[in-house]
Amino acid sequence: MAKGLFVIGTDTDVGKTFVTAGITYILRKHNFNACSFKPVQSGGIVKDNKVLSGDIEFVKDITEINETNTMMNSYCLKEAVSPHIAAEIENVTIDKNKILEDYKKLQEKYDYVIVEGAGGIIVPLIRGKYYIYDLVKDLDIPVIIVARAGVGTINHTALTVDFIKRLGIEIKGLIINGYSNSFYEDDNIKVLKNITNVDVISIINKLNIGENEDFISKARVEYDNSLEIKKVLNLF
Ligand SMILES: Nc1ncnc2c1ncn2[C@@H]1O[C@H](COP(=O)(O)OP(=O)(O)O)[C@@H](O)[C@H]1O
Ligand SMILES: [Mg+2]
Repeated sequence: MAKGLFVIGTDTDVGKTFVTAGITYILRKHNFNACSFKPVQSGGIVKDNKVLSGDIEFVKDITEINETNTMMNSYCLKEAVSPHIAAEIENVTIDKNKILEDYKKLQEKYDYVIVEGAGGIIVPLIRGKYYIYDLVKDLDIPVIIVARAGVGTINHTALTVDFIKRLGIEIKGLIINGYSNSFYEDDNIKVLKNITNVDVISIINKLNIGENEDFISKARVEYDNSLEIKKVLNLF
């Protein structure tokens, strides 16, 4: 049975997919049998009349894992809005049991499963009934929180940590993403350590892509530098 880790963002676009791909990549690079899972994707990419999960595509580009989208993603919705409303618009009924069964299938095949949430911890998957935090509790796995480095992160991150702690969910640490070496980011990290008492596992730099450089190769180098395998294994 695989060990699981849930990647929670303090917000949308903070780098959950970037970090999920990085953890999966580092584990696989060190010959650990790891795969990522995206229970519900909204804002899917339309390609050849099919809706594809951009988050899964990114993980595949980084890790070159040979796995089907069906295994790695339970629901893929087109509208770029919260999953509950995307599902309503598209007449899709999200069934939490399907998600839990899909996770179980991955658990049987892999030793490490890295689950990417949608948005933040209080995002609804089913209106008024089922939220990301319900899914974390049902999966019964610890979380790591991906937070922005820059302005606004103290409030978002402190609130996220507080909410998760109150639910009794284990927090393995914070990952600060998109760091660009400025004094206020350093201070944010200091303040967050103080307020939350949660370990900062890693600080991931903001990638600047030059003209002849490729995002995927640069991301892999950044993962090698910022996600030590020993620390990654300790998250599970
Ligand atoms: N450290 C980083 N450096 C440069 N670009 C990044 C970094 N982290 C994320 N991004 C980019 O920012 C955008 C949002 O990141 P993503 O991982 O998709 O966020 P989320 O999954 O939380 O919505 C993407 O285009 C991604 O490629
Ligand atoms: Mg994402």
